[in-house]
Amino acid sequence: MPAPVIGRHAAPESPVDVLTDLLAVQRRRLAALDPRLPEAAAPPPGDIVVVGKPPHRVAGVVTHHTWPAGSGPLLWSATQVSELHPVIGAAGHAPLHALVEAWRGRMLPVVLAEPDSAATITWPSRDVVATRVFLDHGLVPLAVLAVRPPGPYPVPPPDPDLVVRRAGPDDLEGCVRLALEELAYSSQVGGSLLRPDAEALKRATIRDRLGRGEPTWVAERGGRLVGMVECGQAESAPGSWLASLVPPGGWGYVNCASVTSAERGSGVGQRLVAAALPELEAGFRGRQDLAVRGTYLYYNPPNPLSSVFWPRAGYAPLWTLWEVRPARALR
Ligand SMILES: CC(C)(COP(=O)(O)OP(=O)(O)OC[C@H]1O[C@@H](n2cnc3c(N)ncnc32)[C@H](O)[C@@H]1OP(=O)(O)O)[C@@H](O)C(=O)NCCC(=O)NCCS
Repeated sequence: MPAPVIGRHAAPESPVDVLTDLLAVQRRRLAALDPRLPEAAAPPPGDIVVVGKPPHRVAGVVTHHTWPAGSGPLLWSATQVSELHPVIGAAGHAPLHALVEAWRGRMLPVVLAEPDSAATITWPSRDVVATRVFLDHGLVPLAVLAVRPPGPYPVPPPDPDLVVRRAGPDDLEGCVRLALEELAYSSQVGGSLLRPDAEALKRATIRDRLGRGEPTWVAERGGRLVGMVECGQAESAPGSWLASLVPPGGWGYVNCASVTSAERGSGVGQRLVAAALPELEAGFRGRQDLAVRGTYLYYNPPNPLSSVFWPRAGYAPLWTLWEVRPARALR
């Protein structure tokens, strides 16, 4: 006969205790599901929601964010964002349904009233139990964070008329044109938004990036830029935002890839990636201690070009960004 449970379970558990217990189980669930994931991070501070009773009890943290007018993230995000951070242990469909329903009840009136709003969840792509639940509540898999381990990329046959090179400050206008072309395309197939200040925002960001020497490659034909891939390197350091998404270490990332419409499908994108990857994977300048774990990027599953192009280049979904706009459309 099992010994009676005494001690800390004799007193009622606080919501923080519930989160802590469920997080330990969730860590095991996600580690078993996908070894490419980092250890599941604790949710950020916010409104703790606990639903149900053991053994079907689940929890989550609801956060709210308002992006200020004129800020860069408004080119891919709604202004008012309610985010659910599920902490569900090993739970299946029914408890997760209950948690999503409870989330709707906790959304701030300002979010529910705002047309430029979104309800979002970022969750491991391979957790298909959650996929079923999110789809049933009207959430859409608008983007994925996809990763690629370091490794050779097939170099396409040479194109004698195409010059692929690192971009410099003089390439600003060509890069802005290509970035706006990408934004216009992506706004039809994902969460990007062609807001009135898009050109000014892109110009300021790209001027800054090129000025700092951030790795950007361009493809030039006949003196005109026809393609661009904006990249960078970042450390997934313990406690950082990136560490909640990818394992610790050095990572290369691809921020924006754009080939002008008349040149798409003819190998320009592949030549740009073939130029960028070896450098992104070679290591961090001045950081011999930091091994490069791979590269990551975001793409939109409804994008018929990038959803073919990136998986063919070796990228596989790690996290899915579920979203519904406006937030009140969550059902
Ligand atoms: C995604 C993108 C950067 C790829 O660059 P690209 O130069 O078109 O790519 P490539 O020609 O090197 O490879 C394209 C692949 O897509 C497919 N493709 C076929 N027809 C295509 C077309 N009309 N346009 C684009 N891709 C086509 C092919 O499968 C091709 O692979 P294959 O050569 O093995 O057949 C480019 O299409 C683009 O800018 N798209 C619009 C903006 C965008 O989606 N950006 C990415 C955001 S993450």
